[in-house]
Amino acid sequence: MSSEQTKQDLSSSYFKDLLPYAETKHVTEEFVGQVTKKLIDFLEQSNDRSNKVCEFHPPEELKKKLDLSLHDKPESLDTLLSHVDSILKYAVKTGHPRYFNQLWAGVDLSALMGEWITATTNTNMFTYEIAPVYIVMEQTVLEKMRQIVGFENGDGLMYPGGSISNIQAMALARYKFCPDFKEKGIFGTKPLISFTSEEAHYSLTKAGALLGLGMDNVVKVSTDAKGKMMPSDLRKKIKEHLAKGNQPFFVTATAATTVGGAYDPFHEISAICKEYNLWMHIDSCWGGGCLMSPKHKHLMDGCHKADSIAWNPHKLMNCLLQCSVLLVKENGLLEACNSTRASYLFQKDKKLYDVAWDTGDKTFQCGRHNDILKLWLMWKAKGSNGIAEQVDIAFSNSLYLSEQVKKRDNFELLREPEGTNVCFQYIPPRIAAMPDSPEKFEQLYKVPPEIKKRITLDGTLYVGYQPLKEHGNFFRMINVAPHVTHKDMDFVLDEIERCGKDL
Ligand SMILES: Cc1ncc(COP(=O)(O)O)c(C=O)c1O
Repeated sequence: MSSEQTKQDLSSSYFKDLLPYAETKHVTEEFVGQVTKKLIDFLEQSNDRSNKVCEFHPPEELKKKLDLSLHDKPESLDTLLSHVDSILKYAVKTGHPRYFNQLWAGVDLSALMGEWITATTNTNMFTYEIAPVYIVMEQTVLEKMRQIVGFENGDGLMYPGGSISNIQAMALARYKFCPDFKEKGIFGTKPLISFTSEEAHYSLTKAGALLGLGMDNVVKVSTDAKGKMMPSDLRKKIKEHLAKGNQPFFVTATAATTVGGAYDPFHEISAICKEYNLWMHIDSCWGGGCLMSPKHKHLMDGCHKADSIAWNPHKLMNCLLQCSVLLVKENGLLEACNSTRASYLFQKDKKLYDVAWDTGDKTFQCGRHNDILKLWLMWKAKGSNGIAEQVDIAFSNSLYLSEQVKKRDNFELLREPEGTNVCFQYIPPRIAAMPDSPEKFEQLYKVPPEIKKRITLDGTLYVGYQPLKEHGNFFRMINVAPHVTHKDMDFVLDEIERCGKDL
């Protein structure tokens, strides 16, 4: 078939010319082939530093550039291809080596193929009978991850993101503490109190709202100058709540904190949890990936003492979104906490296999996405050593960046990085010349949003900013992606200076 004919084919072809409706597969091959080609081109363009990270437009403008309306009549496959073009045109290239906006970046090809196979074998993760390969795969990977954190036995499951893993951990602790919650609800109990650091992720506060504790009962423990939870303040706050007749039950330590990248002191926190009989959870959604690196795993020292650990391979391990694991030390608790034994799905008298492999009742969800295949395939492709190497590259880039920040005029490092977050300020010469005053602070506060606007519109760089505690707005650079180099770190600083020196 000539390419002319093929083009004609697609302009007069519709979804019914594709599998499973069509009897032949040539239109399917042509259509899938063309989409694949566009995706590979997109990845290639993402990898080219001379391209923009994004062609950014505000929502109302963007809506005019896209044909988003839905109609009664089907559109031709050719038209669908043109939609693919415009989607890719305006998508943020998160695989671009100058994309550093959040705690994940890059598009790993082996994980991408895993995700593609996942979609092609479209299934749900609740029972073994419909996901046999993926259920045994998930259990195998979870066991490996438990070994890595140092849990001898235990349980675990993948959840749709770190926030949900954290929320599940709190629910699990609540169940352990008062199993009656499950049937009777929260009525008539003493206020249950959860503790986490003031720099912890906001999902813990949301967990308080969602699980009926109330956000005020997610107590914020002070952090030290490095951003780590202060055990002395944790103890003080536990005692205060006990004195009020409240019931402390749950402590979350963080590894690493979202903005500052600090790892909390696990040994000391664990000792306090043991003393007061509290559940210790570690939110290592962001920084848990350092466990893969013999050089950096010491940051997680003592994590085996926790009762549960949340760990997102889609962050520091560079897997694709979403990929989040909750590891639990005590076996059987996930099932006990969540199960309702829906008899239409989890029949106990199945004759095909041991129904313990129907893991779907270990979560509060019904359907669960297959997030394991992309992780497993990536791990197979790189081996643990390959992942370790990539984690080390991320750390090396951050160390280099922090050194450059210290060397350059008009840049100020806020904290020595512990993980791969580098927090710094750019102080334009005009503002640097001002005497310290509230007016100077106010003007500095406005610098990162203005620079962010300029670099995003220029399409040269994606980087985040925020305030934290006593600090006004500052930049937070993160490193995850392994194809990023020291030169990219220089570029980040050059670009921030270029866009901010006149402010
Ligand atoms: C420390 C920490 N915990 C939890 C989360 C939430 O993870 P997710 O975005 O997968 O819900 C984040 C997200 O950045 C995080 O930094």
